[in-house]
Amino acid sequence: MDLHQKITKLKKQKNAVILAHYYQVPEIQEVADYVGDSLGLSQKAAETDAEIIVFAGVHFMAETAKILNPNKKVLLPDLMAGCSLADSCPPDAFKKLVDAHPDHTVITYVNCSAEVKALSDIICTSSNAEKIVNSVPKDVPIIFAPDKNLGKYIQKKTGREMLLWDGACIVHEAFSIDKLLKLYKEHPGSKIIAHPESESHILETATYVGSTAGMIDYVKKHPSEKFIVATEAGILHKMQQEVPQAVLIPAPAEEDNTCACSECAFMKMNTLQKLYDCLLNETPQIEVSEEIRKKAILPIQRMLELSK
Ligand code: 13P
Ligand code: SF4
Repeated sequence: MDLHQKITKLKKQKNAVILAHYYQVPEIQEVADYVGDSLGLSQKAAETDAEIIVFAGVHFMAETAKILNPNKKVLLPDLMAGCSLADSCPPDAFKKLVDAHPDHTVITYVNCSAEVKALSDIICTSSNAEKIVNSVPKDVPIIFAPDKNLGKYIQKKTGREMLLWDGACIVHEAFSIDKLLKLYKEHPGSKIIAHPESESHILETATYVGSTAGMIDYVKKHPSEKFIVATEAGILHKMQQEVPQAVLIPAPAEEDNTCACSECAFMKMNTLQKLYDCLLNETPQIEVSEEIRKKAILPIQRMLELSK
C-alpha cells in the first residue's frame, strides 16, 4: 500500500477526520475528507463526530479545532507549523491595547493564538470580516487585529474607522507590484484576483478580493478565463480541479524563488509522511488550557453564529 492508501485505511479504523487548508501540498489535499478556507474548516471542526481530528494546516487552525472540541484528540502533523500573522500579535502586548480601550469591541482575525482569542469579543475570517464588522453598532468603536491589510480593506468596504493592530502575513506581503503589472501586460484580458491579506496597492489592481474559498467560487463563475492569482500558490491545485479550462497564473513574489510565486513555509511543513506518522502515533497533539479555552470559545461561537 502507498501512503495515501495507508492513511485512508487508518483514518477509518480510528474514526478520524482529516481537515486540510487550500495551501497544503496537493497530496495532502487529495487524502483529506474536507479541504477549505479558515471559516469552512472551523465550521467542519465544530460539527464533526469523528473521535480524532487531524488538522493539515497551521497551529492556530488546529488550536481553534481543539477549543471547539476539548474532548477530542486534535493532531497537527508538525507542531512548528506556525503563522507569521499570529506571531505578529503577542498576547501581553495585545492585552495592553485591549485594556487601554475598554469601550472598544475587539474583532480578531482567526489567525492568532488562543490567548489572543481569549482577549477578543468576536473572531472573524477573511470570508466574514465585513459582516462581522457590520454587526457591531455604528457608535461602538472597534479594535481590529492582527492583520492591518485586511483591516484597511474592511475599513474601506464598511466606512468604519477602526483601531488596527500592526500585523501582517509575510506570504501575502511578498507580492511585487512591479512584477504583477508586468505579468498583467504580458497576459492581456486576464483578471487579477487577490486575498485581502495582500497590501492595498495589490488589492487595487484586483477585479475580485476575497478569502481562498471566495476566490475559488469567483473563478468557478468565469471558468474559461485567465486569472493571475495573488495568494499562496497551494490554492492552484483545487482551483484548477474546479475549473480545468481556466488559465491560472500565480502572482509573482518580490524575491526570486523556486516557484516564482509566494509559498507559506509554515503550511508546507506538513508532508504526507508526517500526516501518516501523526495519525499512526496520535501525536503531536494540540493542548489548550481550560482557563484559556473557556474564554476563547466565546468569540469563536459568536463568529459561527453570525456566519450561519
Ligand atoms: P482563508 O483560508 O480564510 O482565506 O485564509 C488564508 C490564510 O492565510 C490562512 O492562513
Ligand atoms: Fe499565516 Fe500567511 Fe501562512 Fe496564512 S499564509 S498561515 S497568514 S503566514
